[in-house]
Amino acid sequence: MKNVLSWVLVLFLTVSLLNNCLSNQVQKDIEQKKSFITKLRQLYASGDTSKWPVPMLDEETKPYFSEIGHLPEIEFPKDNPYSSEKALLGKTLFYDPRLSGSNQIACASCHDPELGWCDNRMVSFGHDRQLGTRNAMSILNSAYATSLFWDGRAASLEEQSQMPIQDQREMSEHIEMAVGKIAKIKGYEILFEKAFGDKKITKEKITKAIATFERTIKSSPSKFDRFIDGETNLFSDDEVMGLHLFRTKAQCVNCHNSGYFSNNRFENIGTSLLGSEQEDLGRYLVTKNSEDVGKFRVPSLREVVRTGPWMHNGIFTSLADVIQIYNKGNPEPYKNRTTVHNGITLTSEKSDMLRLLDLTEEEVLQLEKFLGTLSTKNQRISPPVLPQ
Ligand code: HEC
Ligand code: HEC
Repeated sequence: MKNVLSWVLVLFLTVSLLNNCLSNQVQKDIEQKKSFITKLRQLYASGDTSKWPVPMLDEETKPYFSEIGHLPEIEFPKDNPYSSEKALLGKTLFYDPRLSGSNQIACASCHDPELGWCDNRMVSFGHDRQLGTRNAMSILNSAYATSLFWDGRAASLEEQSQMPIQDQREMSEHIEMAVGKIAKIKGYEILFEKAFGDKKITKEKITKAIATFERTIKSSPSKFDRFIDGETNLFSDDEVMGLHLFRTKAQCVNCHNSGYFSNNRFENIGTSLLGSEQEDLGRYLVTKNSEDVGKFRVPSLREVVRTGPWMHNGIFTSLADVIQIYNKGNPEPYKNRTTVHNGITLTSEKSDMLRLLDLTEEEVLQLEKFLGTLSTKNQRISPPVLPQ
């Protein structure tokens, strides 16, 4: 009996000793994690990006990498410099449905300032409530895009702005007719005269004015901008970790970099759904180069919380789902990798930069929280008075 008791005692002592060691270890781990985050917090909020930990980059994107940070000053092109009169004319035209065939649809119908300058729909409704095939992009910060649209088919905002007017599913108007209608509105003369020095109304002037207005639609400094400028305690621990993961383990900075959070390149992340009804050949439709099948422009992640649903086809309704897809390296279904287009067999070659990331549930959440710091509040914009 005595023997048994002493054995029980020994067992009890061993278990409690082990338990103690284990909880000490857990405690140590927590403390280590805390001090790691404190260290990261100091580096990232130091105001000096050269002190930041080295980003994890693939060789192929290194030449196109520039560190994430603030948006630079907006540059206006030499042949279309800024003036407040031109921006006001552009804003008026942006809101004017008389540019459309039905006189019902304005640019602002699909790019609504209260909805993050897009329409928060999977795909847009346009002329006769026809559905388009792609998700409306926000015009916020479009001044920083080096080509426009998901497939980059417009080289400048000036070139871009006449395209939706003529698009059958969008505003469905002949550009000359649209110009003619605007020219007949007496009240516009004074606006054109102030903006361009003479009151003759032309297509070039309309597109220049709209582009000037669009360039002024820029995000104000976000929580991220203020944190990296030295507001050390603005970020929660999760947001600090999210920022760090974005630049390291999750490798998002391979493509989403610079102050614009996009390297302005075209990449295939396995979203083209070849051979299905939603098939979209992306950049290939512009270049006809087979390497471009399924590539889309890397979108900016500034304001991303406000511009859902996400991707060129608006297929994702939650950012956590988007991050999970990256976490798995987006395993593109085999059956969606080939298609026959105009008699040519085309294949989708997903980027090698998509791979298993091995992020934990906690890390996925931290990345999502970090993405939240790139967005700002909706700005109230008063609609312009439309001239008569
Ligand atoms: C019916 C809805 C609709 C209307 C009306 C509309 N757009 Fe869009 N806009 C879209 C969609 C959808 C896209 C993405 C299309 C694509 O990539 O093929 C887009 C893309 C854009 C982009 C590209 C942004 C970027 O980052 O590349 C700009 C700029 C833009 N529109 C400006 C305008 C202007 C200016 C007008 C008015 C002249 C206008 N839009 C009218 C739906 C609309
Ligand atoms: C290989 C380049 C590449 C990498 C790496 C990458 N992305 Fe993307 N990202 C893209 C492209 C291209 C698209 C647009 C694809 C489409 O529309 O079908 C996109 C779209 C997105 C969108 C949707 C944006 C919108 O406006 O619809 C989010 C959110 C996003 N990426 C977040 C991330 C995060 C978070 C990471 C890291 C885990 C990451 N990306 C890594 C290229 C990349």
